Amino acid sequence: MAQLWGGRFTKETDQLVYNFNASISFDKRFYEQDIKGSIAHVMMLCKQGILTEEEKREIIAGLESILSDVQSGKLEISEKYEDIHSFVEANLIDRIGDAGKKLHTGRSRNDQVALDMKLYTRGEIIALQGLVKEMLYELLEIMKAHTETIMPGFTHLQKAQPITLAHHMGAYFEMFKRDYSRLQDIYKRMNTCPLGAGALAGTTYPLDRNYTAELLGFDGPTLNSMDSVSDRDYLIELMSALATIMMHLSRFSEEVIIWNSNEYQFVEIDDGYSTGSSIMPQKKNPDIAELVRGKTGRVYGALMSILTTMKGIPLAYNKDMQEDKELVFDAIDTAKGCLALFTGMLATMKFNTDKMLESARHGFTNATDAADYLVNHNVPFRDAHGIVGQLVLYCIEKGIALDDMTLEEYQAISPVFQEDIYDAISMETCVNKRRTVGAPGPDVMREVIDIYTNYLENC
Ligand code: ARG
Repeated sequence: MAQLWGGRFTKETDQLVYNFNASISFDKRFYEQDIKGSIAHVMMLCKQGILTEEEKREIIAGLESILSDVQSGKLEISEKYEDIHSFVEANLIDRIGDAGKKLHTGRSRNDQVALDMKLYTRGEIIALQGLVKEMLYELLEIMKAHTETIMPGFTHLQKAQPITLAHHMGAYFEMFKRDYSRLQDIYKRMNTCPLGAGALAGTTYPLDRNYTAELLGFDGPTLNSMDSVSDRDYLIELMSALATIMMHLSRFSEEVIIWNSNEYQFVEIDDGYSTGSSIMPQKKNPDIAELVRGKTGRVYGALMSILTTMKGIPLAYNKDMQEDKELVFDAIDTAKGCLALFTGMLATMKFNTDKMLESARHGFTNATDAADYLVNHNVPFRDAHGIVGQLVLYCIEKGIALDDMTLEEYQAISPVFQEDIYDAISMETCVNKRRTVGAPGPDVMREVIDIYTNYLENC
């Protein structure tokens, strides 16, 4: 057992209690943030005359050597220490002696862990933004290549109206664009430095909190020391943003699974992103998409866990808050993995554009346009709806599409139909005529693609 406290205790901690309390098995993950935070703290203490130049030099050299030894594998983070803070401090004292004992001046583990977690989270938000951006670039590539690729759009998973593959991908672009901006917002709101808050009430040393905040790239110091050590809102916000990203990925996964099925064959997942069956030789399964869909539950769980952990905690720091780490780490790792794999799967996926067009042709997706044709020839919409309903019934009985009916067959149901009905209900016309902002028409879609390209260049 190696802990930083013990002076006021007359008995050794029970081993089970020690194990239950210790966090090193998971907080060792942010050793780098812990050391960098300490270096900034020491620089500030020296600037304020609390440590001498000599002490500062020794401590920083010691901390840097610990950092490089851990990074190179020379020094292993031993789990005999209670937490990463104790490990670093004990190691420093071993290396440089008495000066090391001054590291913790004007600091508590409460503001220290609040800082470490913020530094770690900030880095992860940037990594997540990078991954979301890669997804956006991939979607944009597909959109650019498929402004004219016609496929059925669905409502209730029933064929509804023709759209394009670019339009369908554009819906996901919008979702992930919102995810990106949510991450940006969280970063902006959380970027204040808690160091100097002490255990809960600041310290009596003349700390320059602005300086520490600046050294660590924060917008400024936090303004209430009690909130500084007990705020985990940014983690809740991040878990919520990750849950939303996973929900988007899960919906996308579901579509890929359906599109990749034998019945649809809209896409073919690359062999590199598929798996086989141990018994059925013919199988090529969309396991990656299924796993992404499945892991969504895990990330939702993290959001529920942290909300529940924080509920009812009185001010200020309480040990409950140590529970933030494992679930946040797991949710971040999971979301990062899913984003990277999904983007890879998308980049290598083959789109069967013939199947998509064929499917759009054979589901009466142009029925609305046939009704609009009648409306344009002065038939009231409700009557037009009824006439096209009769056409559809006729086609279903004969097992044909609207486009396959002869003009005589059309005119037998309504004399308003003329030769130009075929052009009016062709898939291309149906899509091309939808040219209001946000619609699938290729012209307006290309304008939106330009807006997205510009967005990605500047975000
Ligand atoms: N391991 C603790 C945590 O993650 C560090 C803070 C400990 N503070 C304390 N007063 N025991 O929250």
